[in-house]
Amino acid sequence: MKTAQIRQKFLDFYASKGHTIEPSASLIPHNDKTLLFVNAGMVPFKDVFSGIEKRPYTRAASSQRCVRAGGKHNDLENVGYTARHHTFFEMLGNFSFGDYFKREAIQYAWEFLTVEIGLPKEKLWISVFEEDDEAEDIWVNEIGFPRNRISRCGAKDNFWQMGDTGPCGPSSEIFYDHGEDIAGGPPGHADEDGDRYIEIWNLVFTQYDKQEDGYLKPLDAPCVDTGMGLERLAAVLQHKNNNYDTDGFKSLVKAVVGLTPKGDNIKTDNASVRVISDHIRSTAFMIVDGVIPSNEGRGYVLRRIIRRAIRHGHKIGINKVFFYRLAPILALEFKDAYPELKKSLANVEKVLKREEENFAQTLDKGMGILTEAIMQLKGNEIDGKTIFKLYDTYGFPADLTADVAREYNLTIDMAGFEVEMTKQRDRARQAGDFKTTQKGVAISEATNFLGYEQLENTSTVQAIIQEGELVESIDAGSQAIVVLASSSFYAESGGQVGDLGTLSNADILFKVGNTQKQKSGAFEHHGLLENGTLKVGDVVSVNVDKATRKRIARNHSATHLLHAALRVVLGETVTQKGSLVDGEKLRFDFSHDETITKVDLGKIEGIVNRKILGNTKVHTNVTDIESAKKRGAIALFGEKYGDTVRVLTMGKGDFSVELCGGTHVNQLGNIGLFRIISEGGVAAGVRRIEAMTGYDAYQFDNQTQECLSQIAQMTKSNNTQAVEKVAQLIKTQKDLEKQIASFQKQLASNQGDDLINQVQEVNGIKLLSSIVEGVSGKDLRDIADKLKDKLGSAVIVLAAVDGNKIALVSGVTKDLTDKYQAGKILNHVAAQVGGKGGGRPDMAQGGGTDPSSLNVALTSVKDLI
Ligand code: ALA
Repeated sequence: MKTAQIRQKFLDFYASKGHTIEPSASLIPHNDKTLLFVNAGMVPFKDVFSGIEKRPYTRAASSQRCVRAGGKHNDLENVGYTARHHTFFEMLGNFSFGDYFKREAIQYAWEFLTVEIGLPKEKLWISVFEEDDEAEDIWVNEIGFPRNRISRCGAKDNFWQMGDTGPCGPSSEIFYDHGEDIAGGPPGHADEDGDRYIEIWNLVFTQYDKQEDGYLKPLDAPCVDTGMGLERLAAVLQHKNNNYDTDGFKSLVKAVVGLTPKGDNIKTDNASVRVISDHIRSTAFMIVDGVIPSNEGRGYVLRRIIRRAIRHGHKIGINKVFFYRLAPILALEFKDAYPELKKSLANVEKVLKREEENFAQTLDKGMGILTEAIMQLKGNEIDGKTIFKLYDTYGFPADLTADVAREYNLTIDMAGFEVEMTKQRDRARQAGDFKTTQKGVAISEATNFLGYEQLENTSTVQAIIQEGELVESIDAGSQAIVVLASSSFYAESGGQVGDLGTLSNADILFKVGNTQKQKSGAFEHHGLLENGTLKVGDVVSVNVDKATRKRIARNHSATHLLHAALRVVLGETVTQKGSLVDGEKLRFDFSHDETITKVDLGKIEGIVNRKILGNTKVHTNVTDIESAKKRGAIALFGEKYGDTVRVLTMGKGDFSVELCGGTHVNQLGNIGLFRIISEGGVAAGVRRIEAMTGYDAYQFDNQTQECLSQIAQMTKSNNTQAVEKVAQLIKTQKDLEKQIASFQKQLASNQGDDLINQVQEVNGIKLLSSIVEGVSGKDLRDIADKLKDKLGSAVIVLAAVDGNKIALVSGVTKDLTDKYQAGKILNHVAAQVGGKGGGRPDMAQGGGTDPSSLNVALTSVKDLI
C-alpha cells in the first residue's frame, strides 16, 4: 500500500466514524508562543482541548505535517542514524473533544489496524501507563488482547505532553514487531531501544491542561488525542524495517545517491544520504510556511538543519551546491497531498540556494579547523572555545559540531560553549552601552517638547528618579533620571537616538547622556549630577549638545534622501525595515531580494549627493494622516499614527515625502557630504546600508585616501597607477604558487616511486606501511592515492613526522574494503602513537604525538592482514 493510499484510508475510516476531516495546518503554530513548530497532530486543536475555542464538531481527524527539531520534542540528532526518526513527518490522528474516551479510542484504533489495513494481531504489542488499570482492562477484556503482551510503563513513556504547558494525559501505545531478525525488545524491557518493536500509534487520553506553574488542571470533559507516524506505518505495510526504504523516500534517496561521485559507491543505506533525504523535507516545508533562515528562533532551526544537510553532502563527496536541487523532487512526491509546495517551489529553491552558497564559503575552513582540533584532542570532549569559534567565525551551529564529534565517538562541551556565548553577549552589551539607562517610574504628565525650533530653554524639575524610586533631591555624584516640564532634548524614537547635553543653574550641573520617552510622553533625562544638590521644583537651564544634535540631524535627513534614492534605483518595492540614526552614522535596513551592484550603489550615493548640492529647504507640515498619504508620504506598515502627523518633504519636486517625528537640517546643503560606508545582507530579503555625512564623511574619505597613498608608496607608484601595480603583484604571486605546487607534486611522485620498493606481500595482499620523508601531512593523501592507482590492489599506511607531530593516512583499494577498512587500520596505528583518526573505508586520516612508537606501530599493520 502506497503512502498516499494509507493517508486516505485513515481519513476515510475516521470520516465513517463521524469525524470531521481537517486539512493539515501550517507548521507555524497559530497564536502559540510556547512552541517553535507544530510537533503533533493535536497542536492546531490545542485551544479546542482546553475549551477556549469552540468548533461545530466534537470529533476530528487529520494528517498533520510536523517538525520535531527543537524544543520539547527534538529528534534532530537521531535523524539518519535510526530507522525511524525524522525532522519532518506526517502524523495521522483522531481527536475527541469531550466526546468519546478510552473505550472508543482503543476500539477504533484496533479496528483500523487489524480489519481496515489487515495487520496480523500477533505482530502487535501494547503499552499502558503504569497506573491505568482501566486501559489495560479494555485491551484485555473487551478487545481480547493477551495480557502477556501488554507492558506497563512510567510517565516517561506513557504520559504525553505537548510542551511545558498545554493539554496532556496518560497514553497507551501500539507497537509493531518487525521480527526476530532485528535486535531489540518490547517496551519496558531493557533492550527496548532496538529497532525490532517500533511504536506506531500513541493513544493519549487527554485529561489535563498543564499550567505554567506545573499544575495539572483537569479538563471539563476528558478528550482523546492520537498520533500515528505515517512514515512508520508505511514501512510496516510495505514490509520494510526502515522508513527510508518506503515509497515516500525512494525518489529522494535515489536523487541524493545520484549526486555523489560515481566511483565512491555510496549506497542508499548511507547515514548521510538519509540525513539529507530527511532534511530536505523539513526545510522545504518550513520555507513554504514562511520561515526564513536567520540567527534566532524558527529561522535558526531552519538554518541549522540546512547546514547539517550540506555538511553531510560534503562528507559523501558532493562538492557542488546541491541541496536546493532536491526541492523539485520533493514537490513532485507531494504534488497531490501538499500542492502548496509546488506553488512555492521557486522561492524554496532560492532560499535554500542562497543559504547553501553562504555556508559553502566557510564550510571547508571550519571543517579543517574542527578536524585539526579533533586530531590534537587529548580527552574525549571538544572544548567550548573551539565550538564557539566554529559557531562565531564559520557559522557552525553547535549541533553540527556535535554531529561531527559523534562520528569520532566524541562529545562536545556545551556548558563551555554557553560560557563563551555569554561572554560574547556581555561584550556586545558593553559595546552598545553608551547610554546610562536606569529603571524609570511612570510619570503621568507629558513633557512639552520644544526641540524642533530651539536647542535651549528653561524649565522646572518635575520629578527625579533614582534606582527605580521617586526622590525629592539628589547630591553631587548621583546617577539619576530627571523629568522636566518642558525640554529641548529629543527623546529616542523612530530610530533617532536621544539627545545629550546639560541641565544647569548657578548651583548645579547635571550631564545628560541619554534621553528617553515614557508612554505618557514624559521625557527622562538620564545622567549624572556633577555639582550641587538638585531638587524637585528647581529651575534649570536646559542645553542640548549642539554639535551632536547637528550631526544627528544630518544623518537623519540623509536617511530620508537615501530611502527615496533606493526607491528610484531599485524600485518601489524597497520598504524600510529598520533604521538607526546617531551622531556618528546612519544605518538603514530595507527589504530587497538581491545583492546591490556596485554600479547601483554608486548611483544611489550620487543621487543623494546631488540632492544635497541642490540645497533646497526642508519643509515640515503638520497635517492629518489622510492628506499626508495623498501627498505620497511614505508611512511605515504596521506603525500606529496619531490624528495629526508630521510630514517631512525634501528635494525638488517632492523627491522625498515621509512621516517623521525626528529632527532634521533646515537646508539640504547642511548635510555637506554623503558617503556609503557599507552594504550587505542582514537576513534573507533584508539589506543594510550604513553611511556617514558631513565632517565624519570627509574624515572617512581622508582615511581611504591615506590607505591608497600608502599602497602607492609601497608599490613605488602613484595613486592612479597603484591599482595596476597591485594587480601585477597578485598575478606574479599566483604564478609562483602554481610553480611551487607543481614542484611539490613532482617531489611527491618521486617519493611514491621510492616507496613502491618497500611494498611487502602478506597472505597474498600487497601491504605498504612506511614513513615518508620530507613531505608534509597534507601531501600524504595525494601520495597514497597515487600509490593505490599504481599498485591496483593494496593496503597502504603512510606516516609523515614533523617534530612530535605525526600525520597518518591509510588507503585501501576498493576491491579489498570488504575485508580491510582504512578507518580501522588507521585507528589501530594511531592508538599506538597516542592519537586517533577516522574516515571512509577506502581512505582515512589521523595523527599522533609519539614518534618513538611509530616504527612498531607501522610494523604491526602486518598482524591485521
Ligand atoms: N499527541 C500525541 C503524540 O504526538 C498523540 O504522540
